[in-house]
Amino acid sequence: MAVSDLFKPLSLLHGPAMSNRFMLAPLTNQQSERDGCASEFDQQWIEQVAQGGYGLIQTCATTVESSGIAFERQLGIHSDHHLRGLSQMAAAIRRGGGLSAVQLHHAGHRARAQFGGVPAPASASTLPGIKALTTEEVERIRDSFVAAARRAELAGFDGVALHGAFGWILSEFMSPLLNDRTDRFGGSVENRARLTVEVIEGIRRVCGPQFQIGWRLSVERYGLQLDELREIAADFFDRELIDYLDLALWDSAQIVQEGTFKGQAMLSIFTNLRRRGVRVGTAGRVMSAQRAAQLLEEGCDFVLIGRAGILKTDFPRQVRANPQYESPQLPVTAEYLRTCGLSERFFNYMCEWPSVVLPESI
Ligand SMILES: Cc1cc2nc3c(=O)[nH]c(=O)nc-3n(C[C@H](O)[C@H](O)[C@H](O)COP(=O)(O)O)c2cc1C
Repeated sequence: MAVSDLFKPLSLLHGPAMSNRFMLAPLTNQQSERDGCASEFDQQWIEQVAQGGYGLIQTCATTVESSGIAFERQLGIHSDHHLRGLSQMAAAIRRGGGLSAVQLHHAGHRARAQFGGVPAPASASTLPGIKALTTEEVERIRDSFVAAARRAELAGFDGVALHGAFGWILSEFMSPLLNDRTDRFGGSVENRARLTVEVIEGIRRVCGPQFQIGWRLSVERYGLQLDELREIAADFFDRELIDYLDLALWDSAQIVQEGTFKGQAMLSIFTNLRRRGVRVGTAGRVMSAQRAAQLLEEGCDFVLIGRAGILKTDFPRQVRANPQYESPQLPVTAEYLRTCGLSERFFNYMCEWPSVVLPESI
């Protein structure tokens, strides 16, 4: 497909259509206030990307409970106190012409005590000396996701994206390695997917008919089983439970290394499913106009821009202006990153990512 196809609108099952096929990937930037309120730096960043030409912008991972925190200075949506800053962010994205989604996050067993987190494992065997969540506690966390989605709606966001990747709570529950529960949230694949399903159903109940729900999925580590995730995704597609699936690959060209699908493109395991009205996109080194267009050819409805969107905050606009556009190569030098307009907090966080900033240049 041609680069121009990236600028065709994409309808979603609920609410307005994306004006093009570019989605800003969720990017933690550790620049919020310590109580989770959006800071002036959050606002500056959002203002910047809002003008970048994205069809949809996801916020960074945002805590649905204060105890579910994983990162220092993480953005929060667990209290009405956060509404003011979030409303300002939603308004900025709308002014820029993009749709908006808050990425809802709870760190589960990976919650960090040093930032006020309380590790909340699905199984008693995951963390020495820490009990598994009771069924009532799982239901409380489910309800916190739902309440957070309602807050996102009140703040003016078009939707939410559920963080179901990287071993955080929703993917933790899907993992046969991390979930040995015997209640209705453990055991069969269906039971391990139940927390996510109940969150989605709860959101549909409390939010309006236009409200959009995305779901982010990763396939590696944390004991996640590709065959099972495919089965769950197929079910979500069949039931049209979500508006879009966002595959959190680190390389969109990744090949499956073992098991039933060995040798096949990871992306194809999901794009080959009958997806009904659900849209599918992937992240993973989408660093050029040509690669983005190629991913439409490979079955994606949209592409997610992560690191290339930090290096040039208006990646879609760059592509529109130049169908041969290529992002600066990763990693960049600290000196280059200084020119990208990040706050000091965001800049410092990026320096912890050797895949982004050359360590010897810091
Ligand atoms: C600095 C940084 C922060 C990230 N924060 C999040 C996050 O908050 N939530 C999430 O789901 N993924 C997060 N990711 C993963 C990205 O959304 C994306 O999936 C990944 O970077 C691969 O895409 P890319 O190759 O375009 O960067 C982060 C990645 C980076 C580099």
